[in-house]
Amino acid sequence: MRTYSRITGTGSALPQRAVSNAELAVELAQRGIETSDDWIVSRTGIRQRFIASADCSTTDLAVDAARKALEMAGVTADDVDLIVLATSTPDQVFPSTACLVQARLGIRGAAAFDVQAVCSGFVYALTVADAMIRTGTYRRALVIGAEIFSRILDWTDRTTCVLFGDGAGAVVLESSIEPGLLSCRLHADGSQAKILCAAGRVDSGQIVGDPFLRMDGQAVFKLAVNVLDSSAREVLADAKLDVTAIDWLIPHQANVRILSATARKLDLPDSRVIVTVDQHGNTSAASVPLALDVAVRDGRITRGQHLVLQGVGGGFTWGSVLLRF
Ligand code: UT7
Repeated sequence: MRTYSRITGTGSALPQRAVSNAELAVELAQRGIETSDDWIVSRTGIRQRFIASADCSTTDLAVDAARKALEMAGVTADDVDLIVLATSTPDQVFPSTACLVQARLGIRGAAAFDVQAVCSGFVYALTVADAMIRTGTYRRALVIGAEIFSRILDWTDRTTCVLFGDGAGAVVLESSIEPGLLSCRLHADGSQAKILCAAGRVDSGQIVGDPFLRMDGQAVFKLAVNVLDSSAREVLADAKLDVTAIDWLIPHQANVRILSATARKLDLPDSRVIVTVDQHGNTSAASVPLALDVAVRDGRITRGQHLVLQGVGGGFTWGSVLLRF
């Protein structure tokens, strides 16, 4: 009998402070940077983002999201034998944020590691956890995307600092004889590393190189629309399903214009795309599990529906997961 992995619980967490575009415009104006609610909404669809306070860590957000996912799944932390956490903003160089989360949840003995694929991180983490569960060695995984991007933004660069926010999302992924994840496909093109990067590194007690996120927005935009379309088609073909089988498309939440363009290319109505970028901004590896949890908890996503989760971002990386919820 074939073994699948299946999502049995979802959870998410946001920092306390929501910052509207208007508030951000005022804060940036004090630094001599000009932007407006009009520009941000019309170019990106973002209306607000959540920004972590100085005492909030990526681990804090991840633990909060994980606890909610465990509660929904009706399992305890002791039942977890694998933690895969996607982040580009870990709390420490090492150990991994997954290990810090493991300790906080009181989980003993489970395998725990981070995955680094920037905004594709959650889709990468889910694919890795799915493969590990299907071997039969692991039975119950916590798969988490958690980020505090506000700490790697250059708040004098208006082309990036208005776009990102902080947050976390998590799922419990369990071994099941019912499907489950149906197809996972990942890709990367390292030759495009420079269009979205945070190039600095720690060396001899100092940060060497540029410590901030830098992005060629237009180059990323064009690549994102192309790969999201082809990647959705790839997982559909793999599972021998037509695009009409998609109940909900949950792409990485970077820009509503990217989400709409992808839906248009797939011939999918906008009404079948989950959009949270307006409320959260771009939360990188957290964006897909955050959007998933919002739509599960507000009742749009129900058991048995087909979902396509999609990541795209720095690396350049991209990929999709097709699943029956
Ligand atoms: O998470 C990974 C994935 N990331 C993405 O998918 C991001 C993809 N890229 C995008 O979403 C868009 O390219 C942006 C939202 C980043 C930019 O939108 P755009 O329509 O490509 O704008 P642009 O870069 O062409 O800039 C248009 C104008 C420029 O002024 P000029 O040169 O025309 O005078 C910019 O300087 O808008 C200006 N501008 C701003 N104005 C007010 C750029 N940022 C801002 C700002 N406020 N925050």
